[in-house]
Amino acid sequence: THARIRIDPTDVVGDLSPRVFGTFVEHMGRCVYGGIHDPQHPSADADGFRGDVLALVRELGATVVRYPGGNFVSGFRWEDSVGPREERPVRLDAAWHSIETNQVGLHEFAGWAERAGLEVMMAVNLGTRGAAEAAQLLEYCNHPGGTALSDQRRANGAADPFGFRLWCLGNEMDGDWQIGHKTAHEYGRLAAETARLMRFVDPTVELVAAGSSSADQPTFGEWEREVVRLTAGLVDHVSLHAYYEEKPGDLASFLASGVGLDRYIESVAAILDEEEAALGERMQGRRLGISVDEWNVWYLDRFNEQDKEPLLTGAWNVAPRIIEDEYAVADAVVVGSLLNSLVRHADRVTMANQAQLVNVIAPIRTEPDADAWRQTIFWPFAVTAARARGAALRVAAECATVPTDAYGDVPVVDVAATTAGDRVEVFCVNRDPENPVEVTLAGAHGALRGAHDAVVLTVPDGHDRFVTNTRDAQPVGLRELDVRVEDGEVRLTLPALSWAALGVV
Ligand code: AHR
Repeated sequence: THARIRIDPTDVVGDLSPRVFGTFVEHMGRCVYGGIHDPQHPSADADGFRGDVLALVRELGATVVRYPGGNFVSGFRWEDSVGPREERPVRLDAAWHSIETNQVGLHEFAGWAERAGLEVMMAVNLGTRGAAEAAQLLEYCNHPGGTALSDQRRANGAADPFGFRLWCLGNEMDGDWQIGHKTAHEYGRLAAETARLMRFVDPTVELVAAGSSSADQPTFGEWEREVVRLTAGLVDHVSLHAYYEEKPGDLASFLASGVGLDRYIESVAAILDEEEAALGERMQGRRLGISVDEWNVWYLDRFNEQDKEPLLTGAWNVAPRIIEDEYAVADAVVVGSLLNSLVRHADRVTMANQAQLVNVIAPIRTEPDADAWRQTIFWPFAVTAARARGAALRVAAECATVPTDAYGDVPVVDVAATTAGDRVEVFCVNRDPENPVEVTLAGAHGALRGAHDAVVLTVPDGHDRFVTNTRDAQPVGLRELDVRVEDGEVRLTLPALSWAALGVV
């Protein structure tokens, strides 16, 4: 089958924010302890952070890191995580039925994030706590000095303020699994008053109100409307969270997850537009952005059915192994198409965070006695984050469709593109698990002259689609993709079940 993609560098959706390539570190499972941090590992630095993980984090090229949760933040006392390590309290983390030692805290994490080149996006606890504690944390982090809290930070080793700009007002407060779960009205009022106080303390902050934790939430839609009305003029972004998984016997719907994310983003955008129009001047000139601040492939059904009960009711352990999903080829292809969806919505998606960074549904995996390794999903993220730049283009493939139970008929080829300078970066997916697609790229305003750096991720020779990368072998990676420039068009063959990237001029 064939696909034709028309490239028009003047047909711009909007400028792509580098913040769309964010990641997420939660105090959950082995993301922090045994993940980014393991003083026993041969590569650990003086602070106990693993050097091999840091190198892979840099290679991944993420821009922003959301921290410290997730569900964890809804029971967290930030004060426990500062000051001399030997005096920090050990606590129960009720969200993940774990023991939190607080040995990695605010200062250690801020230092690590700086070394990793990541902007910190802090989340405040609106589960068990409220406006006062959020504002105190903000003062501790961002006020230069001369107050009790800012001087406490200085005494704890940070003479300069951390200067965190991005703040999440709670996490997934619409979910009945959340500590301190609220109705939209309860949350909207609390978020508004927290935002008001935080802005008084530091008017430069950018605030994210928690939207829905999934498009399947029974409150989806009404939640956004109520929260937007109650926080009008006080917040800058509204979040959405989106996880996708392959359900037994339905690979086609899974491979169409990018269409699901497109529709979810577009539904939220339409709600925001309607509410903003109705609120008029109460928005104080703000156009709300969408922060997709948790997204990924997550085998959540498997977790809920098999693992959740024992994990959440068994022994209380430090850094238990929780949701360490091992990703196969289709998962990487879907991650590529989810990134495409984020790029296509550059006019509205102001931020996004792949959840999470290490071990916990993560592109990077560790074991105590091995070098860190890249999961399959590492590759589309790293390449898209490195290459998608400048303006996102309106682009679609003219091609056959495939039927799916979840989303109806969807195009077999998924595509996104960006442009900076005279080069256009193209990212495409072949959703057909059996057959290759012949792809032609054509310039809308004249001949294409060349194609560069074409890479593809697909099922490696000698394996099937279920192959994963393990500590011992990482067969799934990038290989060069053959491209031909003929008659002013770029031609390539997308293998069955593949994700590819190339630059064209
Ligand atoms: O990323 C894992 C969990 O997923 C987060 O803690 C929570 O916010 C979401 O439900």
